[in-house]
Amino acid sequence: MSDPPRTEPERTQPVDIRTHTAVNDAAPPQPAAAPLHAEAALDEARVFELSGLSVYYGAYRAIRDVAMVVPERRISAFIGPSGCGKTTLLRCFNRMNDLILSARVEGRIDYHGIDLYDDSVDPIEVRTRIGMVFQKPNPFPKSIRDNVAFGPKVLKLKGDHDEIVERSLRRAALWDEVKDRLKDSALGLSGGQQQRLCIARALAVDPEVILMDEPCSALDPIATGRIEDLMEEIKSQYTIVIVTHNMQQAARVSDRCAFFTTEVNEQSDTRTGVLVEFDRTEKIFSNPSDQRTEHYITGRFG
Ligand SMILES: Nc1ncnc2c1ncn2[C@@H]1O[C@H](COP(=O)(O)OP(=O)(O)O)[C@@H](O)[C@H]1O
Ligand SMILES: [Mg+2]
Repeated sequence: MSDPPRTEPERTQPVDIRTHTAVNDAAPPQPAAAPLHAEAALDEARVFELSGLSVYYGAYRAIRDVAMVVPERRISAFIGPSGCGKTTLLRCFNRMNDLILSARVEGRIDYHGIDLYDDSVDPIEVRTRIGMVFQKPNPFPKSIRDNVAFGPKVLKLKGDHDEIVERSLRRAALWDEVKDRLKDSALGLSGGQQQRLCIARALAVDPEVILMDEPCSALDPIATGRIEDLMEEIKSQYTIVIVTHNMQQAARVSDRCAFFTTEVNEQSDTRTGVLVEFDRTEKIFSNPSDQRTEHYITGRFG
């Protein structure tokens, strides 16, 4: 009797986001496909790969047809005029758009080759691997320690949580300022300290990726400089995607830069965000491929 034919694993097979493999899938890893964007991908490992990605709020398409490859352990910055969909796109990277009832994501976003929006992918697990820091610092009304220990506690992470707290606060360059008042309320910290606390809170669950949506927009220049230094320090260990309205900041901190703009359809009077180009930061700021990018960075638009 012959063996039954071998079948490919079902698409709905549960996926282990931590190891990036389908559970029980013994198949060897597949070679990577050709880069979607050769310039931006280079030879680096790719963390995210987007194709034909559009996001709708109800019938309104906020951003359309985005294709890009986000490289590992680099800082990628998103710039572009207000309303062009930077936040909307950033929220796709850890499925935060799931939490917005009217939002619908179309197209594909792969995380280490796994379809992030596959039914079998657990969004909570996704947000553990891919942390987020918001525009306005949002510490919980708890002690400094409990803010950082929150994720490890909820996830019941093994190990000494006090050690995790110290390590995370050190990485976020906040330890020396708060080590003697860990039991004090986080709400008593300055805005810049609160934002570094939120970064420490994101780091505490040991993510691979950190998404930052204009993390310095509520901070003064000194606190902004601290956050930028901190990003520089941690970038060898994390993949960072940052939205910034500050072009100097994008030029200072990022390795890759994506410029987005808004296209206006005169007939239907609708505005849709589009990715114009994504490339090495020095190229974007010295010799962009698209005139719209040049106009924006030279201040002729936006
Ligand atoms: N929760 C939402 N519901 C409906 N429309 C939204 C929502 N969030 C953003 N938008 C709209 O989507 C477009 C892109 O917004 P956003 O992603 O915030 O842009 P950016 O971050 O580049 O300023 C804007 O027109 C905005 O009004
Ligand atoms: Mg925004």
